[in-house]
Amino acid sequence: MDSEQRRKRKRLLPLRRPSFHYPSLIWPLFLCFSCFAFFLFDGFSLRSAAFRPILISSHISSLSFSASNSIQDSTLGLPSFRIEDRVLFPDHILLFVSNSRSTGSSSSLSYLLRLHQDGELDCVYQKIRNNSDKAIQTRSQISAPALSVDQYDDSRSIVRCPFPPANFSVAINLRRKGQHGRGDRWFVQMDRSVHSWETLVYGAALDRGTAVVFVKGLNLRSFRESDPTQFSCHFGLGDLDKGSGFSLRTHAVTAAQEVVRCSLPLSIRKNPDKAQGIRVTISVASHSNTNHRAASARVPLPSVAKLFDSNNSEGKQKSRTNKRKNYELCACTMLWNQASSLREWIVYHAWLGVERWFIYDNNSDDNIKEVIDELDKEGYNVSRHIWPWIKTQEAGFSHCVLKARDECKWIGFMDVDEFFYFPFPTSQHRSMGYPGQHSFQSLVANFSSSTVIGEIRTACHSFGPSGLSTPPSQGVTVGYTCRLQSPERHKSIIRPEALDDTLLNAVHHFRLKSGYRYINLHQSTAVINHYKYQVWEVFRTKFFRRVATYVADWQENHNEGSKDRAPGLGTEAIEPPNWPLQFCEVWDTGLRDFVIANLADPASGLLPWERSLM
Ligand SMILES: *[C@@H]1O[C@H](CO)[C@@H](O)[C@H](O)[C@H]1NC(C)=O
Ligand SMILES: *[C@@H]1O[C@H](CO)[C@@H](O)[C@H](O)[C@H]1NC(C)=O
Ligand SMILES: *[C@@H]1O[C@H](CO)[C@@H](O)[C@H](O)[C@H]1NC(C)=O
Ligand SMILES: *[C@@H]1O[C@H](CO)[C@@H](O)[C@H](O)[C@H]1NC(C)=O
Ligand SMILES: *[C@@H]1O[C@H](CO)[C@@H](O)[C@H](O)[C@H]1NC(C)=O
Ligand SMILES: *[C@@H]1O[C@H](CO)[C@@H](O)[C@H](O)[C@H]1NC(C)=O
Repeated sequence: MDSEQRRKRKRLLPLRRPSFHYPSLIWPLFLCFSCFAFFLFDGFSLRSAAFRPILISSHISSLSFSASNSIQDSTLGLPSFRIEDRVLFPDHILLFVSNSRSTGSSSSLSYLLRLHQDGELDCVYQKIRNNSDKAIQTRSQISAPALSVDQYDDSRSIVRCPFPPANFSVAINLRRKGQHGRGDRWFVQMDRSVHSWETLVYGAALDRGTAVVFVKGLNLRSFRESDPTQFSCHFGLGDLDKGSGFSLRTHAVTAAQEVVRCSLPLSIRKNPDKAQGIRVTISVASHSNTNHRAASARVPLPSVAKLFDSNNSEGKQKSRTNKRKNYELCACTMLWNQASSLREWIVYHAWLGVERWFIYDNNSDDNIKEVIDELDKEGYNVSRHIWPWIKTQEAGFSHCVLKARDECKWIGFMDVDEFFYFPFPTSQHRSMGYPGQHSFQSLVANFSSSTVIGEIRTACHSFGPSGLSTPPSQGVTVGYTCRLQSPERHKSIIRPEALDDTLLNAVHHFRLKSGYRYINLHQSTAVINHYKYQVWEVFRTKFFRRVATYVADWQENHNEGSKDRAPGLGTEAIEPPNWPLQFCEVWDTGLRDFVIANLADPASGLLPWERSLM
């Protein structure tokens, strides 16, 4: 912090007396001085109502760091963060942390990541005090290491914290480990409210003159369009749900499931660049009041959503060569902890012609990030998008369409254990250019000139453990060769231009605009091998997710065994008898033979993804 900032801050101190009362002296001391000063002098900034930091100490000298200096770039100044929002999930709490605007978001993200990797980022919990109970004089604060740190959007990172034990507040804060007095001030909390995941506006994206807003808690009917006139949209800065900050109101143009499409205020439409980072929420007309929708009758829902241009934000960070449908075929997937199979899935499909991948990561805690970075460096055009929202797969796919639509002519929605495959390489098919390299791409490209085909459906065969009891070292395509006879379900490759404006989907099928239809690929042309029932040690993790993650490692365990674990944990899954031969009706070595014939190294026999399994 330079001396000019210090002077400003000193002058400001008297104006900023604490507006909250805290019984504890050590709680909470969070303030980031540089962003503090910055906001007060930045015209496009927060109103005072939305920004009431708590200030106790004014010893500026204590802001000089010693141990941390190695991870600071002096040209960037002091890293500083604001805790903007907290979202309460059943088994953890999500904190939205933004950097001060004077430092770049990527540098502050890497700073937080570094703290986390070094085990230095702590979630701090305050004891809930009962004022009438004067007897309690125990220490009022405990901490636990943060569970994860990720970039969420252009301006915010998310930090996941364990659920607090009983009698500790969910209004969590962060601090650097061991820095009771000094490091605390890096984190400033905007307010102490915590949003419930039951009702929350959780995402937003600009899309061609509208804002697409993702909302939990509307309970709209599934796979049906709902009446958009019951919703209004609100745009602005500050806490819209508390009525402070300015707000522009528009109407909703479509609504379905968890997705509401809003028209944009004129000022934003005219100047979309200014819209970056603007907060969005919606309000619902109350039932008693549907006829006269007075503004007062509409209470905006709590929101953590900020507008970012969906085709733009990625580009700024990665500078992918510019856009405009330069990919014929892309893939969207949502996964959790499938790092081990990701390389095989991507390398295989890249060979068949998929050019670009959008990986929606639902709170993985394996090394998926490293695997994705590695693949991207190798030229596979893979990007990871954090999707921390639970039970929102349909909305996640709609979101992925918005991410991908300006880059991709076709988007396949498949899981990481599903492999597109051409079963019968007849001479007739060969003459049409497949099933060799890029044949998947040629297949969809053949429909690109069609004015009616908006979706290509492919049937799935479900494979069983195929007699194995340990994961196949050559990968799933070579290892699993026994399946159920009849296909189950099917998966779709869609054309974003053909989708209905609602982005309505039932996971793998989107509603198409009128005039478009789907086509079923015949099973003799293409199928998807779905490695659904793998060896027991793989299969069981699908059902017993994250057994260990949320058992907090409390530094001061005041309330052992209380709410800090998710329900249903601790039960050991038992392998069903004869698991290796379940789901085995027909042996099918088609894809194995195909992979070995086409992808194995002629000299070593190794498959391109095998090295990562060593
Ligand atoms: C606080 O203590 C009083 C009396 O001891 C009790 O009646 C009340 O329920 C307590 N409140 C909470 C929130 O525990
Ligand atoms: C929480 O606080 C209440 C009231 O102060 C007390 O009766 C209860 O035992 C506490 N629970 C735990 C788990 O400490
Ligand atoms: C995003 O894509 C739309 C439609 O192609 C385009 O009109 C808009 O200008 C793009 N936005 C940016 C920031 O490139
Ligand atoms: C990645 O994208 C570039 C163009 O941006 C393309 O040339 C390349 O083939 C893609 N990589 C793969 C593996 O498809
Ligand atoms: C993400 O994982 C949680 C379990 O931790 C699950 O309940 C949720 O449905 C998943 N979300 C999606 C979108 O798959
Ligand atoms: C290519 O598309 C045309 C019509 O769009 C269709 O008749 C033909 O069978 C397609 N070829 C393949 C290989 O799918």
